[in-house]
Amino acid sequence: MNKPKQPLSIVKMKTMKQKREPIAMVTAYDYPTARLAEEAGVDIILVGDSLGNVVLGYDSTLPVTIDDMVYHSRAVRRGAPNTFVVTDMPFMTYHSSVTDTLNGVRRIMQEGHATAVKMEGGAEIAPMVEACVKAGVPVLGHIGLTPQSVHQIGGYRIQGKTMDDAQRLLDDALALQQAGAFGVVLELVTDEVAAYISERLDIPTIGIGAGAKCDGQVLVFHDIVRYDADYRPKRFVKTYADIGTTIREAFSSYVEEVKQRAFPAQEHVFAADDELTGQLYGSGKVQTP
Ligand code: KIV
Repeated sequence: MNKPKQPLSIVKMKTMKQKREPIAMVTAYDYPTARLAEEAGVDIILVGDSLGNVVLGYDSTLPVTIDDMVYHSRAVRRGAPNTFVVTDMPFMTYHSSVTDTLNGVRRIMQEGHATAVKMEGGAEIAPMVEACVKAGVPVLGHIGLTPQSVHQIGGYRIQGKTMDDAQRLLDDALALQQAGAFGVVLELVTDEVAAYISERLDIPTIGIGAGAKCDGQVLVFHDIVRYDADYRPKRFVKTYADIGTTIREAFSSYVEEVKQRAFPAQEHVFAADDELTGQLYGSGKVQTP
């Protein structure tokens, strides 16, 4: 029997950075996807609040709640018992007070069985990050394009296009590192600025739309496999499969076969024995429609 894989640790992640060994992270929101991710050797599973968009059908991540994150995180943990699972803290759940923040984090860890939490924001959330780290909870930062602030940013725009922006992103990353974050996600950041930040941090950076020089990469599961009824390609995503098309075709074939009574076929049905058939129908044949 195969030995269960050793989950990643935050110490090992730092070593991976030093050895320039890339970290592979993907999102997952349910049991079967988490199982497949673990089997494929993914280093970190992110239960992202992107589930608001890709699973729950909202047009942003803002409506996602702690209850949603706990529910999906539990399912992911059941599918990936030996993987480092990071679960997002949703919109406005780590801003009002340290007590409220720690209470939400407690639920994600205790009820959602996550290994760590992720929070969007820079220097302004450093005190919350520090409080969580002091309470023994690993925290992953997230700067650049932060979808929870989409209305303040004014859309899904590339970050790090000016020197001021680059400096602000670096200051934010350093503040998160100083607060004890074990890594930082850089989302939609220009290649050069992401590389510059990655070089200056001791902790790993994990990029999405932030070029190849980050210490790791993360993609949303639904993007990797084109799992959407109306998939719109994104420049920074590489799709490795097209399960949206496969599922749509499978559904169409199923509907057609049901309508034509081609499904279920003989091999899918359970036959009663002759005695029962005789009692039910006498010597007559079972009527087929
Ligand atoms: O919620 C999410 O999936 C994320 C990734 C895009 C990093 O935060």
